[in-house]
Amino acid sequence: MIIALNNKSNLNKGEFINYLSQLNKIATKHKIILCPTFLNIPRANIENKNYLLGAQNVSSNSSGAFTGEISAEQLKEENVKYCIVGHSERRLFQKESLEEISSKIKKLQEQNIIPILCIGETKEEKEANKTIDVIKREILSAIEDQKNIEEIILAYEPIWAIGTGVIPKNEEIKKVISEIKKILPSNKVLYGGSCNENNIEELNKVTEIDGYLLGGISLKTNSLQELLLKCN
Ligand code: 13P
Repeated sequence: MIIALNNKSNLNKGEFINYLSQLNKIATKHKIILCPTFLNIPRANIENKNYLLGAQNVSSNSSGAFTGEISAEQLKEENVKYCIVGHSERRLFQKESLEEISSKIKKLQEQNIIPILCIGETKEEKEANKTIDVIKREILSAIEDQKNIEEIILAYEPIWAIGTGVIPKNEEIKKVISEIKKILPSNKVLYGGSCNENNIEELNKVTEIDGYLLGGISLKTNSLQELLLKCN
């Protein structure tokens, strides 16, 4: 399975160094993708690591006069192999648009960095039965005019499930992933939102899930280890 760890804006320097030594002790057969803060990426770019490196964001432009941005070329130099794109926190707080998300995917693919495209509905959209419309819109706008579409990893993260401790019913996840796979039959699809060592066995029953995108639990190496042991 693919297990992507989204540290979000957590772990200051000392905390991260300690975290990394704990994380690197975990023996697992799963593909771990560690997505730290930009500043922690070079700290995590070490020899003999049990993870691949990911980033949480990228500029929608190439290197140049874009103050405060980090380009895909710069991520590539730091050995970054994956990059989260369109996380709901960025869509919400940074007002990231569908066009920007599409440009970010292009920039990543030019550098052979695999995008992890986050999609998912709000609570209101779910209650209005708009989940499938939302995820279709987010996918179709992101993949339009892209090359190597089959390499993009999708992460279905219902916004109402992120950091809330509430997760969808298995049949709801199954339905959404089946819809995603109707559009993108050969792409990997992760689930994200309040995954933990206690609910992972239930989630694992959804055979359509190819892995998980973990937020809070990515910071707790003991719980993470337990979760990994429970994944097939
Ligand atoms: P939590 O696992 O903390 O709910 O966060 C999920 C997430 O947003 C991962 O990108």
